[in-house]
Amino acid sequence: MKSFIKIIAVFVIVLTCSSCVDKQKRQVQYMADTDMYTPVGYETYGETADGEASVRKPVEGTIARGQVPYDYPDSQTGYEAARDSLRSPLKIQLPTDSIAQVSKKDMDNGKYLYGIYCAACHGDKGDGQGSLAQNGKILGVPNYKDRDITEGSIYHVLMYGKGIMGSHSSQINAKERWQITHYVEELRADLLK
Ligand code: HEC
Repeated sequence: MKSFIKIIAVFVIVLTCSSCVDKQKRQVQYMADTDMYTPVGYETYGETADGEASVRKPVEGTIARGQVPYDYPDSQTGYEAARDSLRSPLKIQLPTDSIAQVSKKDMDNGKYLYGIYCAACHGDKGDGQGSLAQNGKILGVPNYKDRDITEGSIYHVLMYGKGIMGSHSSQINAKERWQITHYVEELRADLLK
């Protein structure tokens, strides 16, 4: 009888212990800290064991996909430089054209975007009589014909803003900025007639 109790006792102990062990997991690891078994988890911009950053900085001069570099600084000199020398990449000159022109598609999109982003202040015609100017919410919106602006300066102002006009560089991409720029030039030419 005594030996029977012993057997039961051993059985219970073995059962209790073995049920706690997860058989799916490796229980003993030799050389656990080498990266042969487990990869070392690095923080993305943290330090590696040899003190280097785990993610290397991109090579100097690297630009993000789709990013268009803009070299004119946000200053009066930058404004003047852009006004005098920045030229649109959208103008094309066909053998049949006497001057370089902007395609109708680009112009149409410029008009469409102008209606969304600019007309509330500048007015549909560019005369400074947008609804926000008329109801006095935004003051000092100029008539385009009163400003000595070029395609370069218009683009520059879209990049950085001017006075209380904010930058539009995050809402519209480089191509769209040029499309709007050409539409503004067209409005200005009509106002000057
Ligand atoms: C919130 C109102 C507002 C919006 C929206 C706005 N503007 Fe302006 N804009 C102004 C004001 C005010 C000025 C005058 C800034 C100054 O000279 O101090 C101005 C000035 C300008 C000038 C003349 C800058 C110069 O060199 O003298 C241009 C060109 C221009 N805006 C184009 C645009 C275009 C294109 C859009 C749309 C993408 C736009 N603006 C959106 C308010 C606005």
